[in-house]
Amino acid sequence: MTTSPSRPRQVTVRVPAKVNLELAVGPVRPDGFHGLATVFHAVNLFDDVTATEHENFEIAVAGRRAADVPADESNLAFKAARLMAREFDVHSGVRLHINKAIPVAGGMAGGSADAAATLVACDALWGLGLSRPKLQELAAQLGSDVPFALSGGTALGTGRGEQVAPVLATGKFEWLFALTYSGLSTPAVYRECDRLREGTTVAEPTPSQELLAALRTGDVQGVAESMSNELEPAALSLKPTLEPLMAMGLKMGALRAMVSGSGPTVAFLMEDRAASTALKRVLEAGELADEYVLATSTSQGAHIVTA
Ligand code: C5P
Repeated sequence: MTTSPSRPRQVTVRVPAKVNLELAVGPVRPDGFHGLATVFHAVNLFDDVTATEHENFEIAVAGRRAADVPADESNLAFKAARLMAREFDVHSGVRLHINKAIPVAGGMAGGSADAAATLVACDALWGLGLSRPKLQELAAQLGSDVPFALSGGTALGTGRGEQVAPVLATGKFEWLFALTYSGLSTPAVYRECDRLREGTTVAEPTPSQELLAALRTGDVQGVAESMSNELEPAALSLKPTLEPLMAMGLKMGALRAMVSGSGPTVAFLMEDRAASTALKRVLEAGELADEYVLATSTSQGAHIVTA
């Protein structure tokens, strides 16, 4: 591939973590995935993915708990670059450098975020000029949470989560995330969910109208009351230590405590930053989780910060 003078040699893309404000899980589909109705919500914990012109495909990872992230072809970001090169007949490689701030293996879609950022970065680096729908289509091939990481903000996810539509949301919320380093495997949590629901009739998932209304008006109490996660019983069953953590957070001022996605991160929705900081201090005095991180809602998705 020839390098045009207008094409950047290096592109950095910033991408947010997500929490699911709602995760309604339907029956298993014939393809093995579960039908979902989920409300994704981006928070301001960002990974940066830098893509640099290179002959081959290479990847390096730095930042928060980088040693726990595979820096090889099994990394979803690496797969994203390869997929894009294959689809568009790009005859060069790319060097990817990921700087992590999103909690690793925590149910906050860090790997999916890096894949989404890689798509945006390689599109710019290789001068492909792909449309949003085309990027969304590639993202969906990589994983159920990847399309949301492209768009960010607040969005309703249907299908297996990959069909995203923006949700009107006003107001920014304050969050405290409690991280547990020994992760939970997403497939294992879905399997446990199926096991716990064996013998029951599982309804088709639908989004909560109360939650959507509370988001429209930025009503934090309404959001706290209508958040729900149908993977939570499965995550708690596999990691019972999350229960006392959630109970302590609620006792000490959280408006709501909920497992984030498939866990094991616990999201505490807080009244304001002062309450969030106070709860962080209280929880840090104990040993219920490994690390606590403050965050605020963000309307951003994957976006270029330097090119
Ligand atoms: O799409 P993604 O690769 O993120 O999914 C990881 C795993 O989570 C899947 O292999 C599947 O076991 C489970 N999953 C599911 N239903 C979904 C999304 C994920 O069963 N809607």
